[in-house]
Amino acid sequence: MLHCKTVRDVDVKDKNILVRADFNVPLVEDSESGTMRISSDLRIRSSLPTLKYLLEHHAAKIILVSHLGRPDGKPDPKLSLMLVAEKLAELLPSVPVNFVDQVSGPEVEAAVEDLPQGGILMLENLRFWPQEKSNSLEFAQDIVAATHAEIFVQDGFAVIHRAHASTDAITKVIPSVAGLLLEKEVNALDRVLDNPSRPFVVMIGGIKVNDKQPLIDEFLPHADKILVGGKIAADGYKSTNPKVYVAEDFDEDGEDTRLDIGPVSTAKFVREIEQAQTVLWNGCLGKVEDPTYATSSTILAKVIGENSALTSVICGGDTSGFVEKLRETDSGLHYTLVSTGGGAALEYLAGKTLPGIDGLEDL
Ligand code: 3PG
Repeated sequence: MLHCKTVRDVDVKDKNILVRADFNVPLVEDSESGTMRISSDLRIRSSLPTLKYLLEHHAAKIILVSHLGRPDGKPDPKLSLMLVAEKLAELLPSVPVNFVDQVSGPEVEAAVEDLPQGGILMLENLRFWPQEKSNSLEFAQDIVAATHAEIFVQDGFAVIHRAHASTDAITKVIPSVAGLLLEKEVNALDRVLDNPSRPFVVMIGGIKVNDKQPLIDEFLPHADKILVGGKIAADGYKSTNPKVYVAEDFDEDGEDTRLDIGPVSTAKFVREIEQAQTVLWNGCLGKVEDPTYATSSTILAKVIGENSALTSVICGGDTSGFVEKLRETDSGLHYTLVSTGGGAALEYLAGKTLPGIDGLEDL
């Protein structure tokens, strides 16, 4: 469980609240116009419970900060958070949502002044300034000074594994508490790890092979079965542990590259999932961007999502985006938690200390 204060433990009434979200959303560039489009708004929608809570509890003004992509400490118009502010305005039609292309200084101060009570101001992409990644205390102090924020709310679960100014240094400037998304994600991951209903099956795929080996080792003492697909299986990963089943057949392209697990392995995965009470899924089983190789992941996502008695946690940016896309056309699919976190969820599950949680106020 999360052992720190949350927004529910502090009085937000009439205060300016600084909220760190993770709006690092996937973008697609229009090849003709060069404009960017958000391809999955999961991370934006996931921030709404905290924002609504703050509005319902009469916070004076909400100032939102986030990063987007890896702009390397300098402005990149393609990675402006203006797009996110527009999306947020659509999702919260009755709330004034403004945007300013700075994170501190007189322009931010003026934008905060202009913002009506009960409004939201989105600041520009924090990573346009190198001080964000260098975890600069001064940078954090400048943001607080310009926004007149009295409380910091960390709600960017997906970024808590980074020690940056908006996750770490900021917690040394003003009282800092967790948002509802952070609380929900951490608690749901804990439920799976601490006392899972059994059989507990972990399904691992994805392309980041180096991240997955420690994950398999981490889960061996906890899981009843570990199913391995994705690139790690395609690359020939072997295990002699009887709990581990590594995909044994693959769909290949014309050049013998293994791009999805095959029908025999998919059927075996399905049988294991059908017997499970708890499933943790991290990493797609094939190259799902190409529908030809999304077969096994689609089948498994449906088997998991159609079983409402199953406790299911989906984590990893690609996997969560994948099931969310499926849900757009099949609203009957249900998952206990579709985590917004990729690296953060994995580091949390691997038991690492997370700077974004460490600095929050103890209960
Ligand atoms: C993520 O998408 O995993 C987070 O937003 C962190 O992004 P980063 O890997 O660029 O720090």
